[in-house]
Amino acid sequence: MAIRLGDDAPDFTAETTQGELRFLEWKGDSWAVLFSHPKDFTPVCTTELGAVAALKPEFDKRNTKVIGLSVDPVDSHRSWETDIEDVTGSPVNFPMIADPDRTIADLYDMIHPNASDTMTVRSVFVVGADNKIKLTLTYPASTGRNFDEILRVIDSLQLTAEYKVATPADWKDGDDVIITAAVSDEEAAERFPKGFEAKKPYLRLTPQPNK
Ligand code: BEZ
Repeated sequence: MAIRLGDDAPDFTAETTQGELRFLEWKGDSWAVLFSHPKDFTPVCTTELGAVAALKPEFDKRNTKVIGLSVDPVDSHRSWETDIEDVTGSPVNFPMIADPDRTIADLYDMIHPNASDTMTVRSVFVVGADNKIKLTLTYPASTGRNFDEILRVIDSLQLTAEYKVATPADWKDGDDVIITAAVSDEEAAERFPKGFEAKKPYLRLTPQPNK
């Protein structure tokens, strides 16, 4: 069954390039990004894994662990890592799950038979510190993902978990944010001492509260 926002992240045991792990135990109190790629030794996937490795310090800053997955075996992942570093200059610095029997791919609905019977699609699941699913994304094999966008969403998710705000289109860390509808103007004046601008009664902007 499809995994939806707010669901508990299903737990699993996995064989990975960094040894066997239990997902929720490995994740602990951190946030996590679980993402699948269709196949080892393929071009788009090679660029994606290098991109994630280069961004690892940015995920770390956000207390977020990253973990990849495909249905290829662990020895394949390990030998592919050499190519990824060779091509992108970034050594793979996060675990990659080997899921040859597709147990985890099925658990997270990562195989979409009308796209491919044998390969996982490009799924992304962001899991919060509370082990709930905060974001799902599905891209086709032919389109590499933008991992800066995943970081941007994590910034929004972590901010909106803490403050009664939402983030507008194309928002990035440091931009003004939207005060949620449940907050009255009176309460807004207390909660957001930097003030707010009401573009419309339902669209009130305030400087990012934690900056
Ligand atoms: C790729 O990563 O380039 C790729 C993987 C599977 C199907 C098509 C492209």
